[in-house]
Amino acid sequence: MTVSHDHRALTLNGRRTLILSGAVHYPRSTPAMWPGILRHMRKSGLNTVETYIFWNLHERRRDVLDFSGRLDLVHFCRLAQAAGLKVILRIGPYICAETNFGGLPGWLRDVPGIRMRTDNEPFKREMARWVRLVAEVIRPLTAPQGGPIILAQIENEYDNIAATYGEDGRRYLQWCVDLAQSLDLRIPWVTCAAGRAAEAGQDDAVASADGSLETINAFRAHEMIDAHFQTHPKAPALWTENWTGWYQTWGGVLPKRQPEELAYATARFFAAGGSGVNYFLWHGGTNFGREAMYLLTTSYEFGAPLDEYGLPSTKALHLSRLNHALNACAADFIDCERPVVTATGPAQFTCTYASGLVFLCNDAAEPAVISHHKVDHTLAARSVRIVRPDDEVIYDSAAPLRPIRRTWKSVGAKLTPFTRRAEPLPSDWPADLATPVVSKKPVEQLALTRDETDYCWYETNLDVSAAEAGPGTLTLECTADIVHVFVDGRHVATTPGPLRERRGKFNEGRFTQTFALDLPVGRHRLSILACALGLIKGDWMIGYANMADEHKGLWAPVRWNRRKLAGPWRMQPGLLGERTALFSEAGALAPWKAAPARRADQPLTWWRTNFARPKSTGPFALDLGGMTKGIAWINGRCLGRYWNIPESDPMGPWMVWMKGSLDAVPSGAATQRHYHIPVDWLRDHNTLVVFEELGGDPATVRLLQRV
Ligand code: GAL
Repeated sequence: MTVSHDHRALTLNGRRTLILSGAVHYPRSTPAMWPGILRHMRKSGLNTVETYIFWNLHERRRDVLDFSGRLDLVHFCRLAQAAGLKVILRIGPYICAETNFGGLPGWLRDVPGIRMRTDNEPFKREMARWVRLVAEVIRPLTAPQGGPIILAQIENEYDNIAATYGEDGRRYLQWCVDLAQSLDLRIPWVTCAAGRAAEAGQDDAVASADGSLETINAFRAHEMIDAHFQTHPKAPALWTENWTGWYQTWGGVLPKRQPEELAYATARFFAAGGSGVNYFLWHGGTNFGREAMYLLTTSYEFGAPLDEYGLPSTKALHLSRLNHALNACAADFIDCERPVVTATGPAQFTCTYASGLVFLCNDAAEPAVISHHKVDHTLAARSVRIVRPDDEVIYDSAAPLRPIRRTWKSVGAKLTPFTRRAEPLPSDWPADLATPVVSKKPVEQLALTRDETDYCWYETNLDVSAAEAGPGTLTLECTADIVHVFVDGRHVATTPGPLRERRGKFNEGRFTQTFALDLPVGRHRLSILACALGLIKGDWMIGYANMADEHKGLWAPVRWNRRKLAGPWRMQPGLLGERTALFSEAGALAPWKAAPARRADQPLTWWRTNFARPKSTGPFALDLGGMTKGIAWINGRCLGRYWNIPESDPMGPWMVWMKGSLDAVPSGAATQRHYHIPVDWLRDHNTLVVFEELGGDPATVRLLQRV
């Protein structure tokens, strides 16, 4: 099959084709879930699935490649093809996507002289190597070779950082597109370079490059379509990211996009001359393991049409109805030039295609009447109707649908009594397992952990003189993300949440944390456990410094009142339980102790239980509402981070541009209480291991079914 485009649409074998696509990030679900998700998409009227490629997961260590299980991209594409879907592959390799380090492997930071995403030789060398490797993996799957892949993307939304890099950035973006073209995949390329900035009102930073198709990412693409056609008269209007909802950060509010608003905005785009949409996302899924970006919750539900567990939501019904209506009249608008737009009121329009197909559009926040062919149509606020040439109304975005309501059901799986093991402070590690680094000053965490664990210990002596004794302040001048402070082995303080998604520059005092402590005279052992919450996804999260500058742990002096602690510091990357793989099968051999009969509220504890395969078919979740903060594993596989922090933070100032498209009301409940256990990770006999940093009652942990 050949793939090309004209000024109206993508063309497949020379025929203009309406693209109705949904984004599904393959590592965020499991191979057992893929067929069901893809089948549901086809049934919902989609003809394409879109995914990013996750370099950070495929090459966690340089030259060690993994395309197995959840990372089996080829299998995912083949299943899509079998389900009757085309594929859009967004290679990046910088992909943003709320994934750790925006999709770049953490080890890139260690490449000498590297600066990410600009005209920098070390970065370009690594990127070119990976992109060429990916090209060979996907070549047999491209449409010209009989495969499902019709479109590919290099880079991602460069406009978000273009202003920082100026000419270097422009050269880099052109280099990216030239690299893509040199692969000779014979499908069109996009960069999604611009669009976002225009929406945020910073049109000075708009970036684009020759040789790639420019597309739109937005909540309301119709508002940008005229500008798009003006700048790119030979390109069709393809909407590469139509956000079906939004992501949530720990302690942050979950912004919601209502199904009717989403259906309206989507129909409105086709009314205005659009010819392809990608719902971002159709299925959001789960950030398993340590795969979430900084501060992102483990759930990546995103308010998508399919919930985290792969079950359809009310949004799926609305979009399915729209997709089927668009498919039914596709030829009536795709094969025509852009429509004639007539204003019939201050915010009311008829968009008429040469075929006679008409979209009636009410952009106002209240209902309005639009007359068409002598019929008065009463349109609900912000809604679109599609009227066929014979005057039949084939679609109304505001027509009600019976909502789908979901809840949790107990599966009655009996967990055996929890056993436990204490995670020792680093000075208590067995000598043969300790790998301490000693230095006068604290050493930044990633330099020690290479981002292979969230945890790093910092230990030193704190000598308190008579004059300094009593209540005082411990100041960590520069630290990230969450720290737990222990004095003489006793937990005395923890960073209070919530944290900010946009962390600011490292040198602007935004990383100082202070703790009020009461210390008696004498020599104390100060142990600080730094807990990372994922790496940033882009420069803007650290005040537009380069991503390579990401910092975790401690990297500046610590003071007791005014006095700088003299050191030396003893740093120990990771947990002993990680080193001895307590979460794995082998971990069962270690001596675990019975849990105390009373509530076992203690920091730094590994908890372990077993249960038989539940009788019901799932999908399943773990209710961790009675625990505080940590990581959970099932049968040795990491379910992700958990944190029982309440949803409190209203929309940050940078999110204001979304207003009108999203509602954001903090619920005050836990940001995330339920954690997805994929059905294919369960066995007849299962082991659940939880590492709890602060305390909680494991007896409250439950296995639930989503219904
Ligand atoms: C876009 C970006 C995506 C994702 C999305 C928000 O700007 O291209 O990768 O981050 O925002 O979910």
